[in-house]
Amino acid sequence: MSESFAAGKTPTETPEFSALGLHARQARAWRLNDLFKNDAQRFERFSIEGAGLFLDYSKNFVDTRTIELLVAYARACGLEKRRNALFSGEPVNATEHRPALHTLLRAPAGHRFVLKGDVLSDEVQRVLLQMERISEQIRSGQWTGYSGKRITDIVNIGIGGSDLGPAMACAALRPFASPGLRSHFLSNVDGHATDALLADLSPDTTLFIIASKSFTTQETLINARAAREWFTASGKSADLARHFVAVSTNTQAVAEFGIDTANSLPFWDWVGGRYSVWSAIGLSVAIAVGMPRFRAFLAGAHAMDEHFSTSPLDRNLPVMLGLVGWWYRVFFGSGSLLIAPYHEDLRLFPSHLQQLEMESNGKSVDLDGLPVTTRTAPVIWGSTGTNGQHAYFQMLHQGTDLVPVDFIAALTPSHGRQSQHKVLLAHCFAQAEALMRGQLHEEPSGHERDALPAYSALPGNHPSNTLLMHQLTPDTLGALIALYEHKTFVQGVLWNVNSFDQWGVEYGKLLSSHILPELEGKQPSYHHDGSTAGLIARAKRAYDPTNKESPN
Ligand code: F6P
Repeated sequence: MSESFAAGKTPTETPEFSALGLHARQARAWRLNDLFKNDAQRFERFSIEGAGLFLDYSKNFVDTRTIELLVAYARACGLEKRRNALFSGEPVNATEHRPALHTLLRAPAGHRFVLKGDVLSDEVQRVLLQMERISEQIRSGQWTGYSGKRITDIVNIGIGGSDLGPAMACAALRPFASPGLRSHFLSNVDGHATDALLADLSPDTTLFIIASKSFTTQETLINARAAREWFTASGKSADLARHFVAVSTNTQAVAEFGIDTANSLPFWDWVGGRYSVWSAIGLSVAIAVGMPRFRAFLAGAHAMDEHFSTSPLDRNLPVMLGLVGWWYRVFFGSGSLLIAPYHEDLRLFPSHLQQLEMESNGKSVDLDGLPVTTRTAPVIWGSTGTNGQHAYFQMLHQGTDLVPVDFIAALTPSHGRQSQHKVLLAHCFAQAEALMRGQLHEEPSGHERDALPAYSALPGNHPSNTLLMHQLTPDTLGALIALYEHKTFVQGVLWNVNSFDQWGVEYGKLLSSHILPELEGKQPSYHHDGSTAGLIARAKRAYDPTNKESPN
């Protein structure tokens, strides 16, 4: 049971929620341009800095009263207490009876943390040393493949949290990576992906990291077996240990797969998959950029943890980002949030956030087992600017939906093309301005306004956040990811859901285990609906060697 609400009450039955509801009726009628006209200090008032990140949330439907009411609601939901429970290792993942201690993975070396008699901080530091040993050996060339050549290609085989976080971080830290090492990520069970990747590799210079918290995930194990088969075809099965390492909580399954236990890095059930890039699941990142930079990545995240734990709620980046997003979802009916990084190296960040926010808060039952009576996680989507401007921004400017946007940019590039970077930044700031300002009511002369035909008018009044960092570096990336992790946590508290389980993904896995044998020619063990049965039959006809007709 959550302890935040009086027995039988849900968050929406609190007076704080009712007050927000009344306030929202006014706020929905506001013009953002007017909020700026009426408050010369608005930018300063509604922006926050912390852990190397700057958040401008002034282009939103909020005023000081809104913030007071939102913060009061967060308090009514027990945010501070729940935040303490998160950091102190209480079983916040109630349905799986586990803590969610990803913050411990990035705590500084001297921080001692004991849970039920286990010194977890020592275990974390031990695994970091193991990561250091492996990454340094590979980077220095001391770890060679069976032919004596250096390892040149690192392949992370994993899916979901065992793929998205490290893939995103490797892309984001590309300018800091060793040029002699290529990072690859194989996640999909689609053999096209497996084929395309293996065709580009040599077995004697490739290291596979099999990354799976459970080491039971079908897609990962199928790809891992395909990689092992491809490797052993080189005739060097005895050298498997030099080419396969694993990261898992299931060390027994790792050993059964044939990976040397000395090269099996553990992590723990108190690390959720989508929060695991800070654990040994980040090994591919450590190999790419080196352990000192990986430690800087952890330190950046820790700085955000400190900011989140100690800053007042109304000066707290994750809290405000969470509250403003929740405000739109619950009171403005917005169905999605666009993540628009104006930084090519952050191109995988929207996909990472998709899992983080949608797997965490895509829930409809609360911590007390009651139905959630408001909308929960929005659809998270996006891609890099300026590309999006030439694709879907049209819909943002002139479509009919309210789509809040998070613009993300670095002031300084990691390349030398300064003037090109200014063009990028100009577009980023211009889009946020254009979305808010519109091109109808605010033009300098009435004559121009009248001249605008309806089809070219932009209504404006579209809200956005802008997040800036000085440069995208290991520490600012760490802070950025941790910011969204805590934002997700905050929203989970506001919805009173468990942000750390993902029961919804299990059923599809179960049904596929009934369908696969049928595609392989076995008798159905399950009564399907007409559509699914029809699709299975069509696929089976395609596999039938006696069938001369194309099924299509
Ligand atoms: O199917 C969902 C999920 O459990 C994710 O939460 C997780 O990140 C992913 O699968 C991969 O799981 P594992 O690391 O155990 O292979």
